[in-house]
Amino acid sequence: MEIKQIKIGQTLTANNVFLAPMAGYTDYAFRKICLSLGAGMAFTELTSAKGIIYDSKNTKVLLKKSDSGVTGAQLFGSEPDVVKQACLSEWLAPYDIIDINMGCPVPKVYKNGEGSALLKDVLKAESVVKAAVSSGKTITVKIRIGLSENSPFVTEEFAKMAEASGAKLLTVHGRTRERYYSGDIHFEEIFKAKNAVNIPVIANGGIFTTADADEIISKTGADGVMLARGAIADPYLFSKLIGKTVDLPLETLINNQLDFMLEDFSDRFVTVNIRKFFVYYFKGKRNMKELCKLLYTAQNTDEVREILHKNLHICSDI
Ligand SMILES: Cc1cc2nc3c(=O)[nH]c(=O)nc-3n(C[C@H](O)[C@H](O)[C@H](O)COP(=O)(O)O)c2cc1C
Repeated sequence: MEIKQIKIGQTLTANNVFLAPMAGYTDYAFRKICLSLGAGMAFTELTSAKGIIYDSKNTKVLLKKSDSGVTGAQLFGSEPDVVKQACLSEWLAPYDIIDINMGCPVPKVYKNGEGSALLKDVLKAESVVKAAVSSGKTITVKIRIGLSENSPFVTEEFAKMAEASGAKLLTVHGRTRERYYSGDIHFEEIFKAKNAVNIPVIANGGIFTTADADEIISKTGADGVMLARGAIADPYLFSKLIGKTVDLPLETLINNQLDFMLEDFSDRFVTVNIRKFFVYYFKGKRNMKELCKLLYTAQNTDEVREILHKNLHICSDI
């Protein structure tokens, strides 16, 4: 794929390979690592507009911003006033770019009329985007293509609505809500969005290799890609795609990640929370199970580092 910068409002991203918002994964530490490996931009995981207004402590830590690279905060909410207030809140003051989530499929969010539920009602979605835009922040929108394979897709309609309401970038996850995170990507829907609007359109879904990125760009004409699970499975995919040489062995990457997590969380929490990344980092490698088993016995982050140092060599590419 062609690597180029993307203009989002007044901001110019480093390139067009973005890190997706991912709950439980794209925290301050992982975003910082992906930005250092070459991500052109990163997003926080979805944060509740209501949570921000009501000063929820849990929400605040999600919004800690890395000073390196361009980062957008992602909000979910369905009440225009609440979304606007959240955009204007002190917590979001460090963020120039705020993304509105219209893709989250989980029942807890969907039942409240938030996330992908907004795809049911374009007028409501429009009022949310307009309210966010009226805050003066640069607003972007992330959508899915529709609710189910059997209901009409809404990609083009929502792309036009987002642009007309003042959004400065659109990301399209080429799956329906019903499909959650599996199934083929509807390239033709992303293509339709790209052709319907003049704001940049970013393609998302199923990008795990450089070949996947080339395919989605060639089939959709999108301006860039957004890596989600592909970035957790291989954070080096950013540098591979942008052709950047990096000298960051996996052991150092993990040690850095632990250091960054420890800035905000207890040693015990970090020791346990880093485990979900190991499953991705070592997936498909020889002796993956043995290494993970050893790492899961660690009682603190020093032990994680030590076990890794002594045993990482057993886990090699098959
Ligand atoms: C664990 C996990 C958490 C996610 N959390 C969010 C989120 O907070 N906000 C969002 O817009 N999408 C979220 N997504 C969706 C991803 O951003 C992306 O759209 C989706 O995974 C498709 O890309 P992929 O097939 O490359 O993984 C999440 C996905 C996963 C797997």
